[in-house]
Amino acid sequence: MPSEDQCPHSKNEFERPIGVPIGRTNLNFGPNETKRKTTMAEENTAGAAPEWVLAAGAHALASEDAMRFTHGGKCIAVYNLSGSFYATSGICTHEHAFMSEGYIDGETVECPLHQGLFNIRTGAALSPPVTKNLQTFKTKVENGQVYVLVE
Ligand code: FES
Repeated sequence: MPSEDQCPHSKNEFERPIGVPIGRTNLNFGPNETKRKTTMAEENTAGAAPEWVLAAGAHALASEDAMRFTHGGKCIAVYNLSGSFYATSGICTHEHAFMSEGYIDGETVECPLHQGLFNIRTGAALSPPVTKNLQTFKTKVENGQVYVLVE
């Protein structure tokens, strides 16, 4: 069972071409396998340096929609609210549900499993059964690409 902030090891097509850290291209198997594992372990180390990660093309995510990606074992949801982009932990703080599959209404997202509400901008838990806030992440758009500062 993955921890609450980790996506399961899905082959979801959204998760492979996006969420690639800037400048990181060594994902080869074979002789580099040991190095690759070391890199992934380092990414999972708490306290790792924050890193801007490419999430998606700004035009690939429709307004009032969300998508998810994984980086260093973290699952992150990215939202487009009328052209402004926000990012939160991708997994609900109540149980294991993808926030990217939730219903977006204004600044709130409703969890698809038990309908707990969160504020997308702040991550604040707004209604039961959720009581714990979602972690939020800074975002930026450069050259038509959405980046998330993953800590
Ligand atoms: S899993 Fe999100 S409210 Fe229960």
